[in-house]
Formats: sequence, structure tokens, C-alpha cells
Amino acid sequence: LPAPFRIALVGFGNVGRRFAELLPGPYASAFRALGLRPVITGIATGRHGMAIDPRGLPLGRALRIVRAGRSLDALNEAAPLRDALAFVRAVPADVLVEISPLDPQSGQPAVRHVRAALERGMHVVTANKGPVAFSLASLKRLAKRRGVGFRHEGAVMDGMPVFNLVERCLPGTRVTGFRGVLNATTTRILSRMEEGASFARALREAQVAGIAEVDPGNDIDGWDAAVKACALANALMGADVRPPDVRRRGIRGVRPEHSAAARRAGARIRLVARGRRVAGRLTVSVLPERLRAGDLLATDGADGILELETDLMGEIGIWEGRGGVDQTAYALLSDLVAVAAPVAKALTRRSAKR
Ligand SMILES: NC(=O)c1ccc[n+]([C@@H]2O[C@H](COP(=O)([O-])OP(=O)(O)OC[C@H]3O[C@@H](n4cnc5c(N)ncnc54)[C@H](OP(=O)(O)O)[C@@H]3O)[C@@H](O)[C@H]2O)c1
Repeated sequence: LPAPFRIALVGFGNVGRRFAELLPGPYASAFRALGLRPVITGIATGRHGMAIDPRGLPLGRALRIVRAGRSLDALNEAAPLRDALAFVRAVPADVLVEISPLDPQSGQPAVRHVRAALERGMHVVTANKGPVAFSLASLKRLAKRRGVGFRHEGAVMDGMPVFNLVERCLPGTRVTGFRGVLNATTTRILSRMEEGASFARALREAQVAGIAEVDPGNDIDGWDAAVKACALANALMGADVRPPDVRRRGIRGVRPEHSAAARRAGARIRLVARGRRVAGRLTVSVLPERLRAGDLLATDGADGILELETDLMGEIGIWEGRGGVDQTAYALLSDLVAVAAPVAKALTRRSAKR
């Protein structure tokens, strides 16, 4: 029988529920190939309770409970838990998956959850930008001391391989800079303004379509892009920058006539995130820019586009079509398989000794 690989989830919203739906079917085969059987031993939420079951929670029931707006407490087999941090300290798991919502001003509560899990010697996988943008260096040091993994592929461009591409496919290569269009909401608003829609109308349409939040400031004022830019600079360029350090201007000042004129010339106005070294100092910025015709970042139909500048491999482009929950759930799978591989190897060694 395959050995259990115990996963705990903090956050059971869009991404967590999609992950749980795919886990028993298509995702399980990736673990089976390693001789492991994934089990969810705990789920913590904000307003829908928490549950721990060391034998594995019934995922179908957990999904039905949360979708009905009820509390997961009904499935809890452990002592009652005060909050998500207490959950992280108590749950019996090999890996914590952190997918709670982000506070872009502080990175919390995710940073606390990740730190507590690493301190316990659990691997951590996250799609939350907060820990990568605010505390990557210290979390990596802690993970190294504990001999566990801390992976965060889903933090930027959903499931597109960005961090894993550099780590696994570009050994010895240095990322010297990046440029990216990383916030899908602003790209969609700017695209509609090219067609003549006013800013207010383009924003309202994005909100009705569920793309933009009711409070859209995180997107249109450039905070989301700034958090992602910090995550990229910290993880790929060894920086230690935080979102307030980013030179940032959102798209409120862009007018439809500017967007339309750019488009007539084949150009595009986009919110561009950049990381580069100027006179040895790393600077990170998020600013609306007019991109010339033919620029990779000006390509239509993408939710995210990133260009990496490297020393040994020149320029590398990563292009994401429509991205979202499916791709982000996949990022969790790819990171989980990466942390599961050494767990599987250790189990094989142990059973060979017996
Ligand atoms: N959606 C995407 O496509 C996408 C893409 C890339 C990255 N991400 C990142 O992935 C994470 C999850 O996204 P999502 O779309 O699944 O968010 P979501 O639908 O808003 O779900 C958030 C989940 O976290 C729970 N939660 C809220 N506060 C909590 C707390 N203090 N402690 C523990 N759990 C808490 C919520 O519980 P209640 O519902 O009970 O409050 C809910 O289960 C976010 O960090 C997001 O930025 C998402």
C-alpha cells in the first residue's frame, strides 16, 4: 500500500477547494508515481471553522460543508482549536499548504503560518505572495536549518513555471533583471480603454465579470503588481525588498484617449513591473508604460507576461493565456511533488533497511 503523504491546508477558498477536487483524481497519480498516497489531515479557514483528522478528512464532505456555508468544526477529531496559528502548531502533517488571503501591506497572516510550520519541521508550499514578498530570506534560512522545503510557485503567474524554471532548469544562471505585465485586472481594464471605454466603465465591467475586487485599489493602484515584483526580485535576484520600497504608480491616471492612440500606433499602455540593477543597486518599479509594437509585453490575450534577463541564457519569455484557479491549484501540485520526492526517498531507504 502506498505510504500516506500528509497535507494540511490553511485556506479553503477558490484555490483550496479546486485543489481538493482534483487531488483524488488527476493529481493523485503524480504522488502514486512516488509511492505515496496524499491525504488531507487538516483544513483551517477564516469563517468556516477548522478540522483535523490524523487518518485523513473526508474531502467530499468537507467541500459540501464549506459550499453550504457551514463549519468544518463538525469534522474535527482533535481538541478544539483557537485560530489558524494554533491549527498549524497542532496539525499532524508532512507539509503545510498556505493559501489564505493576502494583506498586501503586511504579508500577514501567511508569514506567521509559514514560520510556525517551518519551525515544526514541516515543508511549506504556498500560492500566497505575502511570505515571498515580505520575508523570503528569513523563511528560506529557517527552512534550511530545519532541512525542509519552502516553495511558492503559485505566488506569481498562477501555475506558470517561473521560480521552478529558474531553480530547476537554469543551474548556474544568474537572473540580472526582469520586466513583466503581472496584473490581469489592469491589463483587461487598459484593453477595454483602447476600445474607447471610460476607466470607470472598464473597471465596472471587470468587477461584474468577477475579475476585479469590489475594492479594486490593490490592482489599479499597483499594489498587487508591486507585491509580485518583490517576490520576483527576492526569489530570482537575491534581493531583500518589500512592497513599500517599490517605486509605484497605478493606472488611475491613464486616459482612454492615450490608450486608444497607443493602440492605433500598434503600441499598448500596460502596467509594467521591473527589477534591475542600476549602478550596482537593485531597483523595483511598477509604472504604466507605453510599449512599442512588437514588444513581447504588448501581446494581446495574456493574463501575465514575464521577460527574464539572464547572464548565460539571454532573454527568456514566459507567457500565460487565461490563468486562474486551475493553474494556481496546479502550482500547488508541482511544488508538493517536489517536496514529496525526498519524503518518498527516505521512506524507501527506511523500508530497505527493515
Ligand atoms: N484565485 C487565484 O486564481 C489565485 C492565483 C494566484 C494566487 N492566489 C493566492 O492564493 C491564495 C488563496 O486564493 P483564493 O482565491 O483561494 O482565496 P479565497 O477564495 O478568498 O479563499 C481564502 C481562504 O482563506 C480562508 N481564510 C481567511 N482568513 C484566514 C485566516 N486568518 N486564517 C486561515 N484561513 C483564512 C478563507 O476562509 P473563509 O472563507 O471561511 O473566510 C478561505 O477559505 C491567496 O493568497 C491568493 O492571493 C490566488
